[in-house]
Amino acid sequence: QKPPLVDQFGRRITYLRLSVTDRCDLRCVYCMKARPDFLPRSELLSLEELTILCDAFIARGVTKIRLTGGEPLVRKDVLSLIENLGARLGKTGLEEVCLTTNATQLDKFAGRIADSGIERLNISLDTLEPETFRTLTRGGDIQKTLSGIAAAQAAGLRIKINTVALRGTNDRHLPDLIAWAHGQGHDLSLIEVMPVGEIGVDRATQFLSLAEVRETLEARWTLTDLPDTTGGPSRYVRIEETGGRLGFISPLTGNFCAGCNRVRLTCTGQLYMCLGKNGSVDLRDAVRNEEPGAVDALLDEAMSAKPLQHDFDVSPGAKSPVTRDMARTGG
Ligand code: GTP
Ligand code: 5AD
Ligand code: SF4
Repeated sequence: QKPPLVDQFGRRITYLRLSVTDRCDLRCVYCMKARPDFLPRSELLSLEELTILCDAFIARGVTKIRLTGGEPLVRKDVLSLIENLGARLGKTGLEEVCLTTNATQLDKFAGRIADSGIERLNISLDTLEPETFRTLTRGGDIQKTLSGIAAAQAAGLRIKINTVALRGTNDRHLPDLIAWAHGQGHDLSLIEVMPVGEIGVDRATQFLSLAEVRETLEARWTLTDLPDTTGGPSRYVRIEETGGRLGFISPLTGNFCAGCNRVRLTCTGQLYMCLGKNGSVDLRDAVRNEEPGAVDALLDEAMSAKPLQHDFDVSPGAKSPVTRDMARTGG
């Protein structure tokens, strides 16, 4: 039995977020610049190497692994990684494997994902309005996303919609989107845009406080706070009129870092201890050289370096504390 991962502030790290690729078939304006410089494929760890790293985390007490990206389903053969992780559920300490996706590939993959043991998906969708969707994603077709969502639902997967709230872009559409999601039986989480990566616009112009959104929604609906049970950053309410759950992920107006339980691994083997900080530990050589104990020693180093919290700032003209793209570390 190996010792659990506990950071320098005494927080147990039980949740690994793994970005399997920085590539994506969409180009959301808040996530990447118009011409992103994707990593050369030669720099990626293989799916076998990523699996070995996942096992190292599981051996140290990680119970939940989320695959993100970029868009995880555009990585070649990613289903084999999903199935390998699914095979560990219940047999190791691993309790949950989840996926954050934009849904465009779900027509193809939903059935195999459900068969792998994954039970729920977080799907990014910021508007139901086709033209706004096209602008926000720089050319995406909303029908592909909606049919992917339907395929996932038909395959029996539970769905949570993730929506980044953006001033002057999708703010007017939020009530319709929430009502639609709840009508379909999906939870929905709203997210405050974070200044991660250089996307060529001042984040202050995009930022919309969820405290403000909540006030607007309360003028229309009755929101009842639900107890905090997920261990994640989302704070949930029930909307009495729709009967559905609505989450607020408010890194700027409601910092949740005190309870942080997570770290992030990139597809090149960099371990980032915080979404909002630059510090990382490089696991690539340790996994490639198969030196006994090398990965564990680096995980211990990471625990003593994990920062207390991010210091995001979205005031006008503020510099982003992290210049790497969101897709590099995973949303
Ligand atoms: P579940 O509770 O498992 O459904 O997941 P989650 O809500 O923690 O994860 P999800 O992948 O749906 O995350 C939604 C968004 O929340 C991400 O895209 C990020 O924008 C944000 N987020 C998740 N984890 C963190 C975190 O540790 N720090 C910050 N600042 N934001 C986070
Ligand atoms: N701020 C907040 N959320 C973001 N995402 C991507 N970039 C950002 C950002 N700058 C979200 C996406 C998706 C998840 C992968 O990350 O909308 O839900
Ligand atoms: Fe944890 Fe950093 Fe996210 Fe805060 S911003 S919850 S410290 S990863």
